Amino acid sequence: MKLNNELIEKSVPWLIVLTLMVISVGGLVEIVPLFFQHSTTKPVEGVKPYDPVRLTGRDIYVREGCYLCHSQMIRPFRAETERYGHYSVAGEFVYDHPFQWGSKRTGPDLARVGGRYSDVWQRAHLLNPRDVVPESNMPAFSWLDRPLKAADVATIETKMRALRAVGVPYTDAEIAAAPKALEGVSELDALVAYLQGLGTAIPAGNK
Ligand code: HEC
Repeated sequence: MKLNNELIEKSVPWLIVLTLMVISVGGLVEIVPLFFQHSTTKPVEGVKPYDPVRLTGRDIYVREGCYLCHSQMIRPFRAETERYGHYSVAGEFVYDHPFQWGSKRTGPDLARVGGRYSDVWQRAHLLNPRDVVPESNMPAFSWLDRPLKAADVATIETKMRALRAVGVPYTDAEIAAAPKALEGVSELDALVAYLQGLGTAIPAGNK
């Protein structure tokens, strides 16, 4: 049997096998270098692991499904950078497990929302968006002004150890101090702390 053009074009199995081979080589050439490129694996300057309060807030963000309406990924286009600030870079997300890039934008991108509004605005907006943005169709998260659930406090150390296992450099002391940091914190406090830190390593105005 000779492996010539005619055979490849007429035999479906050969066509499939060879196509897959070509695609895999192309994929490897594109993907593998990313694992070794510092710009994709090293945190950009100023990006720190989430402290226990922000980490808990991040889990509330996930629990409430905020990512279903909000992306956290500013694309490198003029229209995006004019509105949101510097486009997102990989090194900003090295401590995000899992990342919250999302793709659905019913609401604005939140990648650099940190510091855009005051804490008071954020709290009012979450409890009832229409109090501060009359035309808003974001749902009210009116229940968030309540203490953290006991289970969220009890599992914070385990959570941080799990994150350490995948590369977030928490120290033993930071992990041991975590439950105390969550004392007296409400779900709203934690979520607002998380939002206020988003994207702040790269100043929003720096286009
Ligand atoms: C059903 C879709 C939807 C969901 C779910 C949703 N939002 Fe929104 N969000 C919006 C819309 C639409 C706006 C724009 C109007 C406004 O500011 O209220 C918005 C605006 C915002 C803003 C202001 C952004 C800016 O740059 O002005 C923040 C912050 C925000 N949302 C946070 C959250 C958080 C945190 C959650 C989860 C607890 C959440 N949103 C859930 C739709 C949603």
